Amino acid sequence: MLLVTGGAGFIGANFVLNTIATTGEPIVVLDALTYAANPANLAPLAEDPRLQLVVGDIGDRPLVRSLLEQHQPRAVVHFAAESHVDRSIAASDAFVRTNVMGTHALLEESRLFWNQLAPQSRDRFRFLHVSTDEVFGSLGPQDPAFNEHTPYAPNSPYSASKAASDHLVRAWHHTYGLPTLITNCSNNYGPFQFPEKLIPLTIHRALAGEPIPVYGDGSNVRDWLHVSDHCTAIGTVLEGSRPGETWVIGGNAERRNIDLVHTLCDVLDRLRPDPVGQSYRRLITFVTDRPGHDQRYAIDARRLRDQLGWTPAKTFEGGLEETVQWYLNHGDWLDNVTSGRYRDWISQQYSDRDGGQR
Ligand code: NAD
Ligand code: TYD
Repeated sequence: MLLVTGGAGFIGANFVLNTIATTGEPIVVLDALTYAANPANLAPLAEDPRLQLVVGDIGDRPLVRSLLEQHQPRAVVHFAAESHVDRSIAASDAFVRTNVMGTHALLEESRLFWNQLAPQSRDRFRFLHVSTDEVFGSLGPQDPAFNEHTPYAPNSPYSASKAASDHLVRAWHHTYGLPTLITNCSNNYGPFQFPEKLIPLTIHRALAGEPIPVYGDGSNVRDWLHVSDHCTAIGTVLEGSRPGETWVIGGNAERRNIDLVHTLCDVLDRLRPDPVGQSYRRLITFVTDRPGHDQRYAIDARRLRDQLGWTPAKTFEGGLEETVQWYLNHGDWLDNVTSGRYRDWISQQYSDRDGGQR
């Protein structure tokens, strides 16, 4: 079985649902259920004996130890993190606590567990750390895309905390021999993404008839990958990679933010025309830029393709339309996660920015 941290969040929940559907392997999820989590994401498996959800913190070493001892997983797949750049700029403590200290606690308990395994289980065990391309910093328009040899240059509190966790994982392999794997993926989109991130935020604001905030002049570029393709890439690395390796994962779909938001508005115009009879594009509002905003991310995922045979199954346009349709079909999900504390965050985050100032 697998121990999956952060399995009630966006990517973790997709991974749990996809893995149980495709392989049937039992999973124990360890998740602190922060604001970003939603146990309802795992509702289809609520009665399924192959899934157990344990509510707890990855930094709680006695809890992690007892889960490892009780369930004897063949792998830890580590998604749990604070994941939003703007929140890391507003308050970085939780990012250091979870991403750095929490990963350290998980590594130490995994090492102690792995040390006492019988030789065959020791050889088989893996600690897969799910990380981001943001650890590599920002690219200029003509720079080559990130690959496995790109030096680390994190620029935000979020990416610095993820870079720190990557370094710990690397060191636990180099020093102690723990069989670790690291993946650095580009921006994900798809079902269950919390509407603080650009794509679900845009859909939610458009449907509510509220301004769609685009930072700066909208020229920043991100590479986008559908979450289901990220999950198959993680599965491919888990089964196929030698210990100690790192892999970059991307969708080969670089888009400027403003072009992405235009596309989203156009898809919404087709699938759910605005009752006022105008395009959702009218809601786009350029707002004050994010401090230290990275200009461009891009991924060269050729190594993963050539050595392990992974390629994305979805095109960006197809995946995006499917995603818009998912949010349109799951109005209840969106309503549930956008009450209370979500509103507080949005008003704190955007009140200074609203007003068309660049
Ligand atoms: P998310 O914010 O949607 O979910 C994070 C999950 O971790 C939540 O369920 C939360 O409750 C849980 N969590 C947070 N702190 C915890 C703690 N101390 N103990 C236990 N659980 C805790 O994040 P996501 O977008 O699903 O990202 C998952 C992982 O993938 C993160 O490590 C992130 O850095 C990485 N990643 C994300 C993207 C992306 O575009 N979203 C891209 C590349 C890599
Ligand atoms: P985001 O979804 O927060 O992901 P990340 O910062 O990890 O790439 O943001 C994606 C891009 O969209 C990024 O360049 C910042 C920009 N952005 C906006 O223009 N407006 C917004 O309201 C948000 C949340 C992001």
